[in-house]
Amino acid sequence: MRFSFIAFLFVVMGAMLVSATGRNEADAASGSNEVEAALVLKPDLKNGLRVFAVCAACHSPEGWGVSDGSIPVIAGQLRTVIIKQLADIRAGNRNVPEMFPFAMPKALGGVQSLADVAAYISRLPMPAENHTGPGTNLDYGKSLYRTHCLRCHGKNGEGNDEKFYPRIQGQHYAYLFRQFTHIRDGQRRNANPEMVAQIKDLSPGGMAAVLDYVSRLKPARDRVAPRGWKNPDFKKN
Ligand code: HEC
Ligand code: HEC
Repeated sequence: MRFSFIAFLFVVMGAMLVSATGRNEADAASGSNEVEAALVLKPDLKNGLRVFAVCAACHSPEGWGVSDGSIPVIAGQLRTVIIKQLADIRAGNRNVPEMFPFAMPKALGGVQSLADVAAYISRLPMPAENHTGPGTNLDYGKSLYRTHCLRCHGKNGEGNDEKFYPRIQGQHYAYLFRQFTHIRDGQRRNANPEMVAQIKDLSPGGMAAVLDYVSRLKPARDRVAPRGWKNPDFKKN
């Protein structure tokens, strides 16, 4: 354990205090303004690392999450997507109760810190292995991916920076499954309506097959960390 339990408790308690006081109307109104403002700022990676130390307590210092999918891989996610998701969470457009207090301005910082931490995370290499589905129906999954997903998420799930379409390659299967269900059922209020329309008719079997296929899409080799890689920025902790 590179993070002591006491330090973690301290962070949690601090954030609980923040969540009690940090929520207000102005935060809720500022989501899309914040995205626009953060996108044009020049990132300070040193401050990004400072902010990321808190995120690492859950997402791990490598940003690889937990393979059971309870916590997603965020390493290597597109900068624009990280900014949008964090701004959406801050504005109350996407519910992540366990993370909410840590994302609020009083804990994470303002627009500059948002830009900084997003730049830092987007530069982290991705895991060589992520949790994949059962692999039982991959041909069907592939054909569904081509007809239903490719035009937005790209041939290998690499996403689209300019359009805020997330990178979905290299992600844990159970997380993909949960988010996909949330988006389909309207629980992620920031979801793209076109995606919702595109996926709502998939059968349960089709959904499992396409997400299994997605969980096996690999990032480009130069984005993947060597096996056993540890984030050197965390050595001293
Ligand atoms: C208490 C644990 C916890 C902490 C601390 C935390 N997160 Fe998270 N984060 C989560 C969980 C759990 C999810 C997935 C929620 C879900 O399933 O919708 C998540 C989701 C995300 C996502 C969305 C990923 C996606 O694919 O859409 C981003 C981006 C993110 N976190 C960034 C951060 C950043 C940046 C920080 C630090 C400022 C941070 N997180 C701190 C638990 C945490
Ligand atoms: C019209 C474009 C579009 C299509 C088609 C589309 N998506 Fe998406 N997808 C998006 C956007 C935009 C988001 C981010 C939504 C948001 O901001 O919350 C997203 C989010 C996701 C997420 C959550 C990612 C994360 O990190 O939380 C998954 C998983 C996903 N899409 C899978 C799929 C699959 C599988 C298909 C095909 C069956 C598909 N999408 C089709 C645009 C699309």
